[in-house]
Amino acid sequence: MDNKELIRLAGEARRASYSPYSDYAVGAALLCADGTVYKGCNIENAAFSPTVCAERTAFFKAVSEGKRDFVKIAIVGGKANEPDGFSPPCGVCRQVMAEFCGKDFEIVLLRNGEIIVKTLSDILPLGFDSSMM
Ligand code: THU
Repeated sequence: MDNKELIRLAGEARRASYSPYSDYAVGAALLCADGTVYKGCNIENAAFSPTVCAERTAFFKAVSEGKRDFVKIAIVGGKANEPDGFSPPCGVCRQVMAEFCGKDFEIVLLRNGEIIVKTLSDILPLGFDSSMM
């Protein structure tokens, strides 16, 4: 699947965002090695800390369905009334990616209307993972 289509699916996921507290809506689309795609959105909570990011929603949906091999994830975000825009993953989501993905796993983002691609090692240098234990 090409990056443009994965970004489109992330935008579709974003429309389900439940974000009444921040008014910041995020969508993610995670491509598995078998070609399936898991979509996720951010889901907020009045108690704040139970909030989960779009990326982790996508990963946890996929992992809970038995998926373990991932190719790339597209992410878009922005204020709820604004179009899909640049929304790089938070540190916690990067750490979740490091649990399941190698250094070459790709993060596909939309910046100023253009698609950019980073690897996990680009965005999480010197990360901690199970190989250190
Ligand atoms: N958020 C994500 O969904 N992904 C990220 O990587 C960064 C932040 C969400 C969490 C919260 O609902 C809102 O964006 C504002 O932080």
